[in-house]
Amino acid sequence: MERLKDKVAVITGGANGIGKATAQKFIAEGAQVAIWDIVKEKGEQTAQELGNNTKFYQVDTTSFEQVEKAAQQTHQDYGKIDILINNAGITQDATLSKMTIEQWQKVLDVNLNGVFYCTKAISPFMVEQGYGRIVNASSVVGIYGNFGQTNYVATKAGVIGMTKTWAKELGRKGITVNAIAPGFIATEMVKSIPEKVINMLEGKTPLGRLGEPEEIANAYAFLASEEASFISGATLSVDGAVTI
Ligand code: NAI
Repeated sequence: MERLKDKVAVITGGANGIGKATAQKFIAEGAQVAIWDIVKEKGEQTAQELGNNTKFYQVDTTSFEQVEKAAQQTHQDYGKIDILINNAGITQDATLSKMTIEQWQKVLDVNLNGVFYCTKAISPFMVEQGYGRIVNASSVVGIYGNFGQTNYVATKAGVIGMTKTWAKELGRKGITVNAIAPGFIATEMVKSIPEKVINMLEGKTPLGRLGEPEEIANAYAFLASEEASFISGATLSVDGAVTI
């Protein structure tokens, strides 16, 4: 089944983890993929590995200048941009009393400013063609909060707010905007959590395990496809029921 046949997708944070699995899935669904990531070597390696006209663009999404340049270049290279997956994100955890201003600011820069910059730079191409699919990475912690993650939670809750706002602003232009809220997924981001905590999280999850990057990629693909044509402004939890 090629649900994304001939679509051009930008995937931020596509060099690793969920973003890489998403690039793989999108290619299998017939899309052409532009990977935007800050890490050069891994980004180039991933693009080469995936083949199928996958191009890597080194972009720090916290720089609007770099994002605008990459948007112009990607549009020029592929002739259009149909799908934007705002997936790049980081954590820098600490409790309220220990969190430094730098940790607060850095996570806001990547997870909130970066999503705004990419959408601001790419959505005009979608408006012009009267079609677009935007999917943003939130998190279950953006809905429920989490100990030691003030900065991260603020950004992931903010992403849900921006998603609803853009769904209202861009709907008449043929653009849907949705978010996904993953639970705990087995990527580098989660591997930094102590084993004891991982075991506890698995125990709290009715499905009894962490999620796999491919399971998030499947949700991104669904929301980017025609099957989701009347879904906009939604936040889809993909979390093994950890939150109920
Ligand atoms: P990851 O750490 O494996 O990959 C993140 C990617 O983003 C990396 O390739 C990194 O180089 C890139 N990146 C970081 N800063 C960047 C910047 N300034 N500009 C461009 N690229 C940048 O993370 P993972 O686990 O794949 O997460 C992907 C998204 O899913 C993130 O937004 C994360 O917050 C979200 N998420 C992940 C969960 C998990 O359990 N892994 C749970 C809930 C949400």
